[in-house]
Amino acid sequence: MSANRLPLAGVLGWPIAHSRSPRLHRHWLARYGIEGDYITLGVEPRDFEAAFRALPLLGFRGVNVTIPHKETVLRLATKVSDRAALIGAANTITFREDGSIYADNTDGYGFLENLRAGAPGWKASEGPALVLGAGGASRAIVSALLSDGAPEIRLANRTRSRAEFLAGEFGGRVKVVDWLHMEDALDGVATVVNTTSLGMTGQPPLQISLKRAPKTALVNDIVYSPLMTPLLEEAQSRRMRWVDGIGMLLHQGRPGFEAWFGVAPEVDAELRAAVLAE
Ligand code: ATR
Repeated sequence: MSANRLPLAGVLGWPIAHSRSPRLHRHWLARYGIEGDYITLGVEPRDFEAAFRALPLLGFRGVNVTIPHKETVLRLATKVSDRAALIGAANTITFREDGSIYADNTDGYGFLENLRAGAPGWKASEGPALVLGAGGASRAIVSALLSDGAPEIRLANRTRSRAEFLAGEFGGRVKVVDWLHMEDALDGVATVVNTTSLGMTGQPPLQISLKRAPKTALVNDIVYSPLMTPLLEEAQSRRMRWVDGIGMLLHQGRPGFEAWFGVAPEVDAELRAAVLAE
């Protein structure tokens, strides 16, 4: 890495066209007056290793990696954070001065920070959580909820075997509940999270009544397009606390930006508006 080049970062994925990460990081670069750039890099799986290995030579301080590279990249890292190892995937890579490659996963961190910022005082340790979905996002979220002290996680997924696999990996506090009877699992919950793509523009809505949930429960949807999903509408109509999904994206970017550009960036309303703008 050379000091006489502009610091670069970017996001590698395939397909990649719709990533909002460049808007996020470019907003921060402009705000903190940092000369540098954050670039979208569409890289096919077969080219991933060659492209990835060339990045430090080109001046990249690090990158985000997204689908389908989040698992593959662990193999190329020289150091993997505990949370990335636990989740089995990384989203934030730093090319260090000494040539080492550090792989971290900040999705769970982004999830927790979003809930803490949107619902001050909330803690996963307040009570059981109902988590819908058992894909990649769910892994990061289940792991984060456990690390924040959730006493129990009730996990429902359309394909039950995926939920069972995840529960088997994360141990006794994660209990699989039936997708078709998810409402039975609302009794006494402190937190409800949708990690599926249901409710996203072009997808069917998530159909769930929150009637059986305590009024004090916090409801979160990781879908942020649209921002106000059917699940959040349902929470709002019952006057429950809810937090939308865009903050998870904003907060997950903070550790990477700080590692690459040397400034701990802030999440505020202006950033939110810039990232959400059409
Ligand atoms: P991500 O990395 O965003 O979590 P993923 O790994 O593809 O993406 O997981 C998508 C999640 O949404 C899964 O839990 C999936 O359920 P299945 O495991 O049964 O596929 C869930 N999902 C997607 N479409 C769904 C639908 N129409 N009904 C119920 N769940 C759905």
